[in-house]
Amino acid sequence: MTTKSSAPVLELRGISKAFTGVQALNGVSLKLYPGEVHTLMGQNGAGKSTLIKVLTGVYTPDHGQILLAGQAIQPQSTLDAQNHGISTVYQEVNLCPNLSVAENIFIGRYPRKFGRIDWASMAKQASELLERMQIRIDVTLPLAHYPLAIQQMVAISRSLLVSAKVLILDEPTSSLDEKEVDLLFSVLRGLREQGMAILFVTHFLDQTYAISDRITVMRNGEREGEYLASDLSRVELVNKMVGAPAATEATAASAQTAAAGDGTATGSATAAGALGSASAGRLQSFLRAVGLGRRGALQPMDLEIREGEMLGLAGLLGSGRTEAARLLFGADKSDSGTISIDGKERNLSSPRDAIAAGIGFCSEDRKHEGAILDLSVRENLILALQARSGILRAIPLKRQQQLAEEYVKALGIKTASIETPIGSLSGGNQQKVLLARWLVTDPKLLILDEPTRGIDVRAKQEIMDYVTALCKKGMSILFISSELPEVLRVSDRIVVMRDRKAGGEYARGALDETSVLQVIAAGDQHE
Ligand SMILES: Nc1ncnc2c1ncn2[C@@H]1O[C@H](COP(=O)(O)OP(=O)(O)O)[C@@H](O)[C@H]1O
Ligand SMILES: [Mg+2]
Repeated sequence: MTTKSSAPVLELRGISKAFTGVQALNGVSLKLYPGEVHTLMGQNGAGKSTLIKVLTGVYTPDHGQILLAGQAIQPQSTLDAQNHGISTVYQEVNLCPNLSVAENIFIGRYPRKFGRIDWASMAKQASELLERMQIRIDVTLPLAHYPLAIQQMVAISRSLLVSAKVLILDEPTSSLDEKEVDLLFSVLRGLREQGMAILFVTHFLDQTYAISDRITVMRNGEREGEYLASDLSRVELVNKMVGAPAATEATAASAQTAAAGDGTATGSATAAGALGSASAGRLQSFLRAVGLGRRGALQPMDLEIREGEMLGLAGLLGSGRTEAARLLFGADKSDSGTISIDGKERNLSSPRDAIAAGIGFCSEDRKHEGAILDLSVRENLILALQARSGILRAIPLKRQQQLAEEYVKALGIKTASIETPIGSLSGGNQQKVLLARWLVTDPKLLILDEPTRGIDVRAKQEIMDYVTALCKKGMSILFISSELPEVLRVSDRIVVMRDRKAGGEYARGALDETSVLQVIAAGDQHE
């Protein structure tokens, strides 16, 4: 924080933006001052990117004003915004990989001499711009020659060339490693010293505290508040992100009360909450992942799922829970670690492998990955089973009908018939069909990613009762939910995720709603 002039360089006033069915932004205001890093913080889906897109002319706001140095502007495109001095760097660098670094920096504004492009001057200026960020590379090589971190620096130096006053970075660190993040942050600090106003968008706690002067917290499309980073504790920040009541003391006593109130609590619910060995050995291990990770998605973590156990993954939206699930299911490829099933190492490099190994994955993305809306309940229901037996071995229609009728009954699915298109069912009933889709494959491990999001309370209860009963019969479940009370209530053990890594493992009853938020907020220094 250097010289803080009293006038904001950029101001957003009461910005609202709706998409069909979603109020993505609701009356959001924000002031950005020169010479500061202002972090826009919020869980996935909070509305951060939409705000940036309004600010950079990608979307037109429904309401509200954008003021640049006190003057109202209406950016029509990113280029228009850039001409106003507002530059944006996205995670996916938007440059031309086969052109040289220098050409990328100068695209659209090549220096000319006697009507010709002045290559020598261009290379010299490009080198100088990069040098302002302590980066010394050969600018005549193609951009693709350099790692993503350098490519981002090139994108940033382009914004220096157009003498940006405002630099916006939307989740720029998602695929950078730690060293690269450090490099980026030191560049940002340098630019801050030079008086640039920087709007840094992230949902990671550690990064927020590493770089921010000021923090604006967003939740559900609204501005929750604006704080000086030095005034806002990590626990307060997490509470504001999830909208929990102000943290009361999460005492050992409250944790113990929770444990005592639950007959099934293991004896290991210590004051510190860390998992003891009491429950280990009680159940046999089904799946064990060691050092499982994927660059940019999940830092290497260990995970054990036991037979007949419900393992909860708790954490903020975007903390790495779905990423971990996708690696276990082979939906994404891991780049580190091993997975063993029943003690034997297995290569789960596709969902097909995972299904063959007895794993099912009921995904949170009902609309895109799950329900095929114009297929019938029956057809949706037998998809996973059909995939497992191979397309050449069609399941006889009689069998399909039998299974569909059976599960419609067992799960209380409300549908006119098993031939009704799933699209005409309510969300809760669609979700039950998707659950049934995996249950008919008789999985040994079922991954449930937000199985109860956006469905009515009754369907929610029915789904949870059903899977809990299956668990008692020996099925393992990996349960991911943003509803903390639900995770805490149903899970035998809980792994808390934060900033795309595992932040600790806890027995049932060891955590309550307040203490789990404290674990999420704890940060690396506590490990
Ligand atoms: N183009 C779009 N069409 C419909 N809904 C959208 C669109 N873009 C974003 N949304 C919705 O708006 C909300 C905010 O999204 P976004 O701004 O991307 O959040 P964040 O960047 O904080 O993760 C989410 O509910 C998202 O699904
Ligand atoms: Mg975003």
